[in-house]
Amino acid sequence: MSEQIFLNGSFVAKKNAKISVMDRGFLFGDGVYELIPIYNGKPFLLDEHLLRLNKSLSLIDMSSTLSSDMGMKEIIKELIIKNKYKNHFIYIQVTRGAHADRQHIYQSKTQPTVVVMGQSCETFTFDQIQKGCRATIHEDYRWKKANIKSTSLLGNVLLKNYAAKQDMYETLLIRNNKVTEGSASNIFVVRKGKIITPKLGKELLPGITRSLILRILKDNQYDVSELDILKEEILTADEIWCSSSTNPIVPITEIDGLPVKDGVIGKATLETYHLVSKFIENFS
Ligand code: PDD
Repeated sequence: MSEQIFLNGSFVAKKNAKISVMDRGFLFGDGVYELIPIYNGKPFLLDEHLLRLNKSLSLIDMSSTLSSDMGMKEIIKELIIKNKYKNHFIYIQVTRGAHADRQHIYQSKTQPTVVVMGQSCETFTFDQIQKGCRATIHEDYRWKKANIKSTSLLGNVLLKNYAAKQDMYETLLIRNNKVTEGSASNIFVVRKGKIITPKLGKELLPGITRSLILRILKDNQYDVSELDILKEEILTADEIWCSSSTNPIVPITEIDGLPVKDGVIGKATLETYHLVSKFIENFS
């Protein structure tokens, strides 16, 4: 059977799934999304992801949409079974739906478009993790509601490609001389034995992996805090890593051609990588 996706109430073959060109997600990027890892056939931190989805919907004035989860847990379970997903990702996108005309003003009664589908992602092997990755730095020119997991991702797309074109993994973003996040990840910095990640606010996404890492580090008595990180502090950090659902911990060992400390994966990064991997292993 060909790969199935969920679209507006039914399961259909991915290759036949269609939405209207009048969909506001297509016309305006007017929607929100989630990317949920599946480990050994089980969705990881599902409640946390669905909570954030609800939060994103309420922040774009669509709070009524997911009032009862839309049976999202059952939909995801069905998709995993139908497509025999083992280690994969589930992508959820909810847009404000289609109007007869393209107009900025939305109507509250429009039926949302709901898509849930499998998504393969490139994840790093331990060998690649050990080698570390290169990053670049750029002014964070995105809009000031980065806490919403919006499908309007042109800023993130351009900034991710700014790194990719230089054969680098990530662009670390700076706003008002402070680090916000990466173009598609959160950032952790180690300085003088202290692990720091920028505190939450409208400038960054409340990453699910970020909060898992914070929890694991606190449980293991690491000195970890949520604080502002200045641009200078990132340039003189002992260790840096990026976190996201696709690759929970990615060490950054070089920034714009300069090594981070000795240019090799640091002790705290490696320990955190192992702690998080163990947590995932125990889960799956
Ligand atoms: N992105 N910040 C941004 C801008 C992101 O796009 C992501 C993840 C994160 C990390 O969030 P989480 O730990 O919940 O995955 C932070 C996903 C994976 C994506 O857009 O595909």
